[in-house]
Amino acid sequence: MATDRRPDDMVRITTPELADAFIAGQIKEIREQVGDKKVLLALSGGVDSSVVAALLIKAVGDQLVCVHVNHGLLRKGEPEQVIKVFRDEMKANLIYVDATDRFLDKLAGVTDPETKRKIIGGEFIEVFAEEARKLDGIEFLAQGTIWPDILESEAGIKAHHNAGGLPEDMKFELVEPVKILFKDEVRVVGERLGLPANMVYRQPFPGPGLGVRCPGAITRDRLEAVRESDAILREEFARNGLEGKVWQYFTVVPDFKSTGVKDGKRTFDWPCIIRAINTTDVMEVTVEHLSNELIDHLVERIIKEVPGINRVLFDYTPKPPATVEYE
Ligand code: XMP
Repeated sequence: MATDRRPDDMVRITTPELADAFIAGQIKEIREQVGDKKVLLALSGGVDSSVVAALLIKAVGDQLVCVHVNHGLLRKGEPEQVIKVFRDEMKANLIYVDATDRFLDKLAGVTDPETKRKIIGGEFIEVFAEEARKLDGIEFLAQGTIWPDILESEAGIKAHHNAGGLPEDMKFELVEPVKILFKDEVRVVGERLGLPANMVYRQPFPGPGLGVRCPGAITRDRLEAVRESDAILREEFARNGLEGKVWQYFTVVPDFKSTGVKDGKRTFDWPCIIRAINTTDVMEVTVEHLSNELIDHLVERIIKEVPGINRVLFDYTPKPPATVEYE
């Protein structure tokens, strides 16, 4: 039987040795639970689902079926990295679904933030369930539930999305091999499982992805401007030693235009807002102040390389009063 609760006296996993012991224990538990049956996993490429995938690959190999749904709102290079790491390197049984058109068509013209979130969440379940129905003999569903998820659901703060909100007729037994771990422990375990550091130590990224950084109705051109400017920001943060030091950083491209001038001609384009913040509890965040040189360089690159942008702004607002995301 799998360990359900974090023992009060459990030592925090901070070293490779402790991680190895945890991994060995989980491999045994997973094998006992799953036997020779198949396990399904929605693999987003985020820290938790990636570590669960790596653990299950070690424990049950190709009895694990991973489904990576690309909703078109992922960051630049993310779906490619999931395929490279899991299919090419770890030899996972990976189903890749490019559902970009489905999501963007459903989102066309939708401006209300909560409606956007509902569409993205609902469509995700639908695509995932469709893939699950195509498969035979799946009895288990793996999830990247972690200890704070369980504590928050017990405290009534967050609904613990058991079985990922799948339709009633799809019943699976859950496999949750990291559910007694804190996030920092999941990262240590992930590193020992051979996952790349930029996957294990990556900044938090919302489920609705770039969709909430393209405020108002999402259009493909503005979404592309968010994706490209975000990629430049991440590249420059990595180059300047800020990756892994600043808690979260991203760009937002709001839905309004202003005049500018480029090559002697008038332009009428979007602004790009940079947000870089630090926090320990997410309830309050402070702003990371960047050097003038870095800001100047970011402005230059974003204006030059991202079509549709003619201004770059920096958001100096802490939380409260502002939230992290714009919607
Ligand atoms: P806010 O904007 O609420 O963000 O201050 C706090 C943290 O939560 C992330 N966030 C989300 N994560 N689904 C998620 O999985 C969401 O809908 C969502 N909205 C915000 C945000 O990126 C930040 O880390």
